[in-house]
Amino acid sequence: MTGFAFHNLGQDGAARRGRLVTAHGTAETPAFMAVGTAGTVKAMTADAVRATGTEIVLGNTYHLMLRPGAERVRALGGLHRMMDWPGIILTDSGGFQVMSLAKLRKIDEVGVTFRSHLDGSAHHLTPESSTAIQNALDATITMAFDECTPFPATHEQAAASMRLSMRWAERSRAAFEPRPGYGQFGIVQGSVFADLRAESAAALTGLGFEGYAIGGLAVGEGQQAMFDTLDVTTPLLPTDRPRYLMGVGTPDDLLGSIARGVDMFDCVMPTRAGRTGRAFTSRGILNLRNARFAAEDRPLDPACPCLACARHSRAYLHHLFRCDEMLGPMLLTTHNLSYYQTVMRGAREAIEAGRFAAYAAATRDAWSQGDD
Ligand code: GUN
Ligand code: ZN
Repeated sequence: MTGFAFHNLGQDGAARRGRLVTAHGTAETPAFMAVGTAGTVKAMTADAVRATGTEIVLGNTYHLMLRPGAERVRALGGLHRMMDWPGIILTDSGGFQVMSLAKLRKIDEVGVTFRSHLDGSAHHLTPESSTAIQNALDATITMAFDECTPFPATHEQAAASMRLSMRWAERSRAAFEPRPGYGQFGIVQGSVFADLRAESAAALTGLGFEGYAIGGLAVGEGQQAMFDTLDVTTPLLPTDRPRYLMGVGTPDDLLGSIARGVDMFDCVMPTRAGRTGRAFTSRGILNLRNARFAAEDRPLDPACPCLACARHSRAYLHHLFRCDEMLGPMLLTTHNLSYYQTVMRGAREAIEAGRFAAYAAATRDAWSQGDD
């Protein structure tokens, strides 16, 4: 009835091959979503983002409510039209960004009051206003308003924070206007405590969201604790809904999380690294500002189909970064997103063929060999 669907196309161990169907097109999963915080994937045109194989772009409630304002975006035809991205857009709900960016933050039962990091102006975000803003932005996927529990937290602190997020999830769900092909995801919290993750998953599944995110991870707990938390969380989520691990991660994090049943990811890593001269490749991470690349007349990653690799040398990329030319970030963001999408495509094909574990092992092995 909702027109928003997740099809399970196959499974290999706990790893899932799926397809998300929405009002703004489909996305193959496991999927990596590009971060487009302020209505742009930094340094990229929408066409360039599409050419990397990206099918979902993220937007942020916090940034867009401050600039240009949710009503301005609505008046400009919504975020899809404003940024020329007719595809799927997922918006984060704002609480996470308030806590990391805003000033004079205060949390209470109703929501969060804060001052803008831009001009100090006072604002309020609640489950209801965050949901209304995401509606005004025309997000395909709206996120419930939550608190990302800081790490480390005691069991008592994590329980109180998670239970507040669950009360906010109920209010977010009530404020969400169902429209065909649109959906809303709840966010599981509970820090690294298995009993709290279970309580949170039960509370959210009782509300019947179109998908479930796992939040409060990649906040300093380390990869093993993150994996251990996924191991106790994903089995508690409905198999017929997508699972999204928020803010993760390195290519190695993605492979380990896919193996534990996660379907969707977002992270600033490929785009941010691309702006500072760091390249993700099949042979590990390279810093293109390094003098060793000054005379290397060969592609960054010969296996990569992106524009930077097809048409330019490592020496040229090095030169662009040394001169602080804008084309450097543009080309390297293109490459990094393409590399992430290549890893995800490989994962999807491997799950279909029932050889995901071997694919992950071979991919990790190539990173550890290093660049020659
Ligand atoms: N981004 C990364 N982690 C989180 C989280 O726990 N909650 C939200 N809303 N966004 C996130
Ligand atoms: Zn490339």
